[in-house]
Amino acid sequence: DARKEGYDHYMLKEIHEQPHALERTLQGRLDAEAGTPTLDFPPGAFADAERVHLVGCGTSNYAAEYGATLLRRWGVEAQALLASEYTGAAPRVDGDTLVVAVTQSGETADTLSALRFAAERGARTLAVTNVVGSTAARECDDAMFIRAGPEIGVAASKTFSSQVASLVLLAATLVRDGEGAPGEEVRDTLRALADLPDQVATVLDGTTARSVAERYAGRESYFFIGRGLAYPVAMEGALKFKEISYEHAEGFPAGELKHGPLALVTEHTPVIAVFAGRHDEKTLNNVQEVQARGAPVIAVAGERADAVRRQADETLAVPDTHPNLAGLLANVQLQLVAYHVSKLLDRAIDKPRNLAKSVTVE
Ligand code: G6P
Repeated sequence: DARKEGYDHYMLKEIHEQPHALERTLQGRLDAEAGTPTLDFPPGAFADAERVHLVGCGTSNYAAEYGATLLRRWGVEAQALLASEYTGAAPRVDGDTLVVAVTQSGETADTLSALRFAAERGARTLAVTNVVGSTAARECDDAMFIRAGPEIGVAASKTFSSQVASLVLLAATLVRDGEGAPGEEVRDTLRALADLPDQVATVLDGTTARSVAERYAGRESYFFIGRGLAYPVAMEGALKFKEISYEHAEGFPAGELKHGPLALVTEHTPVIAVFAGRHDEKTLNNVQEVQARGAPVIAVAGERADAVRRQADETLAVPDTHPNLAGLLANVQLQLVAYHVSKLLDRAIDKPRNLAKSVTVE
């Protein structure tokens, strides 16, 4: 089942599998009309969790960051922590802590170490993983499978989308079991989540990422910016870009640009700005700052973001959705830009040099 089916690369095939992967992720786990999660966890299952640590590496760390940001927005004390730093510098972890391991493979050594460290201290552990029977799934108290299907490309694509969708469902479940949740926003987000597979298909059908790639391939550096939930998406966009194109790319929180990275910005450094429909005016200010230094700006934004479209040099549009989910649609455009630039540069897209699908050493 792991053939390319007419696509030039597994990665492109897997990018195009996202609508179906997301359908599987959401299948039976959401009451779309009511806007409530229907995960297998009984009501109150997480009532004892006073704080949540989400640990992961690479792309999974950015999915974790997305989940943690959403949880904090919904009033849950949550942090995303790099698994490789967890054992050396973990914040308080004890029996009141839920530790969520975000790991596609379920075999990443750094993530397993973080899990074991947390379990020794009495934390409850939950694996969010793609692989049934993986070490993380077996060792954790609970497992939630993201159901993305096998991913052959070394650089993660569809698994990021399914991880984030899973974490949105998990976040809504944790809020259900906690106190003082902003109910209407959670319900609106979950109602919008049901439309996500179709909207990803719309992005894939209408994208102009290839022409953007043709215009900007071969520049000196690429900078990705975003704030709020668009920040982990910008980070993931930069990671994908450097992994498969071998070009220098960095992600920054949009507001931090002026505190240092701006010194690197010139007419040779395209800036890719991610807009999720919240804090957009502030990010637009940052766009103007880089344009004043001559940098071309490629915005990824919702269809109705007229001010963004007027200001940016190029816009990759995504269907309008809830601001809590817009980053997931933007990420698909970033995947495609990275893919097409890498293809123009004739890179080994499915097996980038020096990288492995699953890293089993610390
Ligand atoms: C490797 C892969 C990355 C992946 C990371 C975490 O570095 O190349 O694409 O994000 O491991 O993998 P995991 O299986 O734990 O999600």
